[in-house]
Amino acid sequence: MNQEAIIICETIYHGNTMKLAKAMAFTINCEIVSAQQALTMDLSKFKVVGLGSGIYFTSHHPRIMEIGRQLNAEQKTFIFSTHGAPFLGRYHVPLMEVLKKRNVEIIGEFSSKGFDCTGPFIIINGGNKGKPNENDERKAMRFITKILPQYAKDLSDVPKGHFVNVNEACVACGLCTTVCPMNVFSVKEHVVQAQNDQNCIHCSLCQKACPSQAISIKHSFFEAIKIAQKHAGKKNL
Ligand SMILES: Cc1cc2nc3c(=O)[nH]c(=O)nc-3n(C[C@H](O)[C@H](O)[C@H](O)COP(=O)(O)O)c2cc1C
Repeated sequence: MNQEAIIICETIYHGNTMKLAKAMAFTINCEIVSAQQALTMDLSKFKVVGLGSGIYFTSHHPRIMEIGRQLNAEQKTFIFSTHGAPFLGRYHVPLMEVLKKRNVEIIGEFSSKGFDCTGPFIIINGGNKGKPNENDERKAMRFITKILPQYAKDLSDVPKGHFVNVNEACVACGLCTTVCPMNVFSVKEHVVQAQNDQNCIHCSLCQKACPSQAISIKHSFFEAIKIAQKHAGKKNL
């Protein structure tokens, strides 16, 4: 665990901002605490403090502002948020002003849209549905890698999740292994595994062949683009 950096995140509405905090904390392997917890801690031991929350009435959560007032000039910080409005505008400025007064260096800021049912969004049962999404989480990972490269994991080594899942309805007939052109599946001791699911091109032949509807495939838009890029240069199977 990274002992030099910490992320403080206040998320009071839909947990939107916590999604960004988790993506960043995963990348630099650091702890996330709420602002309430942070107010009881000695934060002076951290060289880098990330401060994030939803935007509530045009600025960060008051407890995040309070923590900003406690940081010192030897510390560096980065700011993040999620917001409902179409543009971020000047929502980070109040926190930046607090930090500037304390002479705390701001090494970067990041924000993405977050699911919001307030104000005019009520008419459409909430705006920014699903936000932040996986794409935003990846952007958050790239952001933190850029500003804190000394702590960041090599994300090219990180598995991108399980795209293909085989559930308990599987009868291990092996038809998927026969039809799959990308050798995604293997059968070992009567159990089918999608062990090469990073190769999956989402052709869906396995799903059509499966007699028990045991296979599900899930790619985000971003992952689908990556997969297309990976296979773009191929001339044959
Ligand atoms: C009380 C309240 C006030 C809000 N004020 C704003 C605002 O001024 N500007 C904005 O863009 N979004 C505003 N929002 C929307 C939130 O910023 C957005 O939904 C955010 O993603 C919530 O983050 P959270 O789920 O981490 O709490 C407000 C939401 C609430 C509940």
